[in-house]
Amino acid sequence: MTVATRRLRAAEKLLADVHAITSKEGITPSALHAMKLKLVALAARVELFPASDFAMPVAGGRSHPLLVEDGDGHGLYLTIGLPGKEAAPHDHGIWCINASVSGREHLEFFRRTDAGTQPGHATVLKVGEVMVEPGNGMAMADHDIHATRVVGDRPAVGLALYGYALVRFPSVAWYHPQFGSMRTTPSRRHAAAPA
Ligand SMILES: [Fe+2]
Repeated sequence: MTVATRRLRAAEKLLADVHAITSKEGITPSALHAMKLKLVALAARVELFPASDFAMPVAGGRSHPLLVEDGDGHGLYLTIGLPGKEAAPHDHGIWCINASVSGREHLEFFRRTDAGTQPGHATVLKVGEVMVEPGNGMAMADHDIHATRVVGDRPAVGLALYGYALVRFPSVAWYHPQFGSMRTTPSRRHAAAPA
């Protein structure tokens, strides 16, 4: 069996495990934690993710689809972030789990502290952080706010499972703590196939 075939089988097994967890529990903190441990175990099988199978980003980052479910299902990707890539605090509007294959990415988590009543205005407070590196991962609920930064001089290669495929993402909210402001990107949910 080729590496690509073994990778696809492993991705299918991961999604089957994820559905077994969520069909029993829904998307709860403990379900997300259990899913994260499955993804960390998959990411540890580094032989399934040879660098030669995944083109490097020209700049910043790049996501390679590993298994994107039909309809409005989940999306599993191999993500690559070049050294220095960073993202300001943002909220995807959909849960996700990450696990590291190689390299290191530092994540910070934030909590929104304003009432959300003034358009374009937002304040956030840092409430936690985690280093996503081999043997480790992270899980986020639908509206968790996070910022990312690739640290060190090697690309950060990881696996990411999102509740929706990237092409069907909801609106993403970006926060600018230094200005007390926020903006949102358009939702791609209109692209979602009918159930
Ligand atoms: Fe993100």
